[in-house]
Amino acid sequence: MNDKTFLMIPGPTPVPESVLLAMAKHPIGHRSSEFSSILEETYADLKWLFQTQNDVFIYTSSGTGAMEAALSNLVNEGDKVLSLVIGNFGNRWAKIAAGLGADVQKIEVAPGQAIDPKVLKEALDADVNKEIKIVTLTHNETATGVTNPLKELVALIKEHGAISVVDGVTSVGAIDCKMDEWGIDVLVSGSQKGFMIPPGLAFLAASEKAFKVHEQCKHPSFYFNWSAYRKSVRANSTPYTPAVNLIVALNEALKMMKKDGLENILNRHAKHAKALRAAIKAIGLKPMVQDDNIASNAITSIYPPEGISVPDIRSTLKKDFDIVVANGQNELKDKIFRMGTLGFVCDRDVIAAVGALEASLYKLGYKFELGSGVKAAIENLVG
Ligand SMILES: Cc1ncc(COP(=O)(O)O)c(C=O)c1O
Repeated sequence: MNDKTFLMIPGPTPVPESVLLAMAKHPIGHRSSEFSSILEETYADLKWLFQTQNDVFIYTSSGTGAMEAALSNLVNEGDKVLSLVIGNFGNRWAKIAAGLGADVQKIEVAPGQAIDPKVLKEALDADVNKEIKIVTLTHNETATGVTNPLKELVALIKEHGAISVVDGVTSVGAIDCKMDEWGIDVLVSGSQKGFMIPPGLAFLAASEKAFKVHEQCKHPSFYFNWSAYRKSVRANSTPYTPAVNLIVALNEALKMMKKDGLENILNRHAKHAKALRAAIKAIGLKPMVQDDNIASNAITSIYPPEGISVPDIRSTLKKDFDIVVANGQNELKDKIFRMGTLGFVCDRDVIAAVGALEASLYKLGYKFELGSGVKAAIENLVG
């Protein structure tokens, strides 16, 4: 049977029917009072989700657009940028910064590890002349399924005085990310993740301290310009023609999220990831991230069992169950598969996915106690 696809990749994620229906309406004029009211509500709800009093900009782009928007509004040629790299997406910050002519230094760790705050402290302490202007980091590294200890890392950056620029693409709306309380200067995210809407929008919020640095930026981006966006947000508008239907969808999704409550949403993500980790261990599979303290609540990376390939697991899940899981990226391609429990996911989905994974592995000849994963998942989900 077709047309029952369940996306368990780390984005795009499943979209609720009410959100799809909201999106399916005729576009409305982006300068109309009707759209302005929708924007007013949406901007306020985004502040709620970002846990900030800063304005949250909506860009018509994917998450990478917001990453570029962050650095292209801050960096001048020759600026020192320290990039904390725990995977592919952390490295993207370094590439964007280098492309803008920054002098990029990296702290890099092996896949599956997080940044140790002690290592960051040493690097920042060594910068006695306070030359490092910006520190980029990833809250939740989608390539590996590791969550950095963001609160501690941001506190150290704040103490040093540099601007913290954080990729919250797979954390905002899934993993607690307190922009104001933790003192994050720039936080970006993308619509196809925890926001429960399709790809096409990206978000950015910047602190007053970051805005001061932006004011010294000699050649800021035109399309992504922070000053233009801030002016528009404060007028319940957008500088250019936005993706109107996606913003209507976002408005609907944010209403659902507010009704659910942030704490419930975050707890649900934690519960689902815990259940999935318990299930894969019970089946006898190895999670890539060994340390539960840094294992992501949004993405779980799993090694295939000996003798069974990642492509076979993925194609059996797709062909027999219409469940899509992700491959590893770059050097992790075909070495791990990644299951997302991000956004619009319920207990039923986790049980079904674990059951389908068991059935696929069974079909592929893996020997294990059938039902052990589902049992472990249920024990973690119920009660
Ligand atoms: C952590 C992280 N950062 C950045 C991105 C890039 O976002 P996009 O593909 O929407 O440009 C992704 C996408 O998966 C991501 O997971």
